[in-house]
Amino acid sequence: VAAEKGGYPHFMLKEIHEQPKAFKDTMAGRILPEKGEIKLDDVHLSKEYLQGIKKIFIVACGTAYHAGMVGKYVIEKLTRVPVEVDIASEFRYRDPMIDKNTLVIIISQSGETADTLAALRESKKLGARVLAITNVVGSSVSREADDIIYTWAGPEIAVASTKAYSTQLIALDFIALYIARTLGRICEKDFQEITSAMKNLPDQAKIILGHEDKIKSLAQKFFDREDVFYIGRGLDYPLSLEGALKLKEISYIHAEAYAAGELKHGTLALIEEGVPVIAPVTQEHLFEKTLSNIKEVKAREGFVVALANEGNEEIKKSVDDVIYIPKTHPILTPILAVIPMQLLAYYAAVARGCDVDKPRNLAKSVTVE
Ligand code: G6P
Repeated sequence: VAAEKGGYPHFMLKEIHEQPKAFKDTMAGRILPEKGEIKLDDVHLSKEYLQGIKKIFIVACGTAYHAGMVGKYVIEKLTRVPVEVDIASEFRYRDPMIDKNTLVIIISQSGETADTLAALRESKKLGARVLAITNVVGSSVSREADDIIYTWAGPEIAVASTKAYSTQLIALDFIALYIARTLGRICEKDFQEITSAMKNLPDQAKIILGHEDKIKSLAQKFFDREDVFYIGRGLDYPLSLEGALKLKEISYIHAEAYAAGELKHGTLALIEEGVPVIAPVTQEHLFEKTLSNIKEVKAREGFVVALANEGNEEIKKSVDDVIYIPKTHPILTPILAVIPMQLLAYYAAVARGCDVDKPRNLAKSVTVE
């Protein structure tokens, strides 16, 4: 087993470090800049079909659901097709309004999650076309979907998902670009800008991994706390949800994520001296808004760690510490920003002596309801 971990103490840390390679593998051969095209071998959505689509549903569980929330934002932004995101165990019991004019995107690392698979079957029964994003070739989801995008992240052993999540985000960006191009809703310039930024992601992920010691020492500052809060706006909101999920599942610290603007509608009551608040501010158009929420936390003496784009010096004045990520296109930031979130959770769990790869009560793939 030690050999399988490639010298890392846990599979989770190994898988976090595999992200630069996983990003490359997920993107390999899929961006054709000369043609201004995204090439997805197992996706066959014609222009005629896409023109008839009234709505897209994204359905998943757990971490994959958080990927779906990012996907909604990106797909709506680039394609202007409305997207709804649903938790698989809710979707299947609420008589969802789907028909042949609905595209359903199913996201599942394992391709075997019972609720997700049931949602796929229900969607097909109602006449929708199903596109699946999965990491496992030959999985039930991959066999039953109409179209497939494999994430090519390699086997993920740790229960807490890391590289499967970030590569799901890349797959969702590809879907958004593919649909936007097919429907003529994105210009050549924007397409080139996004795809060339995507190509830098593997090297930028390496840069973040180079700051591991700093992130570790930050985790050691709050690992003994009972509660940690995450606040973010726009794409930083699903990022916060994912950061909080990672922390609670492996360290057993109570962690909650809020849309930053919701802070004053409840969570602020829980902020007192020293309460850790992780605050991503990667969305520059929302920076001033989140900054004012951060100031509200600081006024109550919370301990704020911001996650910001390189070059954002202003944030330093208002927080206790900052983790920087390299600059990328705004819709791609969650792919990079999730890496420090994963490392914070990992090092907090290690400091608490938790069984990081096999958290209590949890399973890698939930094949029963
Ligand atoms: C379990 C795992 C999570 C995962 C979720 C969905 O809860 O512990 O890490 O996000 O299932 O799994 P899937 O394989 O469908 O992505």
